[in-house]
Amino acid sequence: MTAAYKRLQEIYGSLQEKIHFQPKIALVLGSGLGDYAESIRTEAVLDYKELKGFPVSTVSGHKGRFVFGYVKDVPVVIMQGRVHYYEGYPMEDVVLPIRLMKMMGAQILFLTNAAGGINDRFKAGDFMMITDQIANFVPSPLIGPNIEELGVRFPDMSEIYDKELCSILRGAAKDLGIGLQEGTYIQLSGPNYESPHEVQMCRILGADAVGMSTACEAVAANHMGMKICGISCISNMACGITGQPLSHEEVKETADRVAPWFKSLITEGIARMACR
Ligand code: HPA
Repeated sequence: MTAAYKRLQEIYGSLQEKIHFQPKIALVLGSGLGDYAESIRTEAVLDYKELKGFPVSTVSGHKGRFVFGYVKDVPVVIMQGRVHYYEGYPMEDVVLPIRLMKMMGAQILFLTNAAGGINDRFKAGDFMMITDQIANFVPSPLIGPNIEELGVRFPDMSEIYDKELCSILRGAAKDLGIGLQEGTYIQLSGPNYESPHEVQMCRILGADAVGMSTACEAVAANHMGMKICGISCISNMACGITGQPLSHEEVKETADRVAPWFKSLITEGIARMACR
């Protein structure tokens, strides 16, 4: 058994001492969306710091806890605050919560984030369903001895974002009258925002939105055979597109402004995924 798996098992063990809850869907809330967790029928809450050896996020606007509860009767575990690579954690730590949620029983992973829009048909406040990703600008979370208990050494990544879940989200957005763009998400390390030429590079590579999270989590989840979907809130147009400087405040403001629609899309998406 690898050291990484032993550690996972230990943390899972300490979680089980505190909570017995089997989620169907795991939801990760990005910047500005954290308070969605407060709107669900909550069964239990567990601060990351209560789990010995668990990485704790330091970003403002990110709480650090698991919320267990029900979205329209669907049992979910929500990560209210994620761990970012730019905080200085090794990738193994960044994806540890995702692995833990799979161990709890979640088969579906619903990822959300705030991202910069690269595609010039996008505008700040849009939502983009992630249909594929570029993760190679950060180290793979699978580097190191393979955790055989979780998945294979060389996992296929031809359909990271599950087509059926994408189609469910498309349908939910349409029925709710919420616009939903689609595209490829690229993860860069951050924490600095990109330069105009870096954004241009991302566009040439085929990316539609850029952010500092998510893709590594999707790689780890796909390795474990989870079904994955994701939505980016385009909180700003990426650097160099509008000529305006970027700030974390702007990112949070836009995400807050469109949060009501984002939340109803998440709720409806989860309800439909559970009875697929
Ligand atoms: N770049 C990277 N990450 C981001 C951005 C951006 O423009 N907006 C929100 N997260």
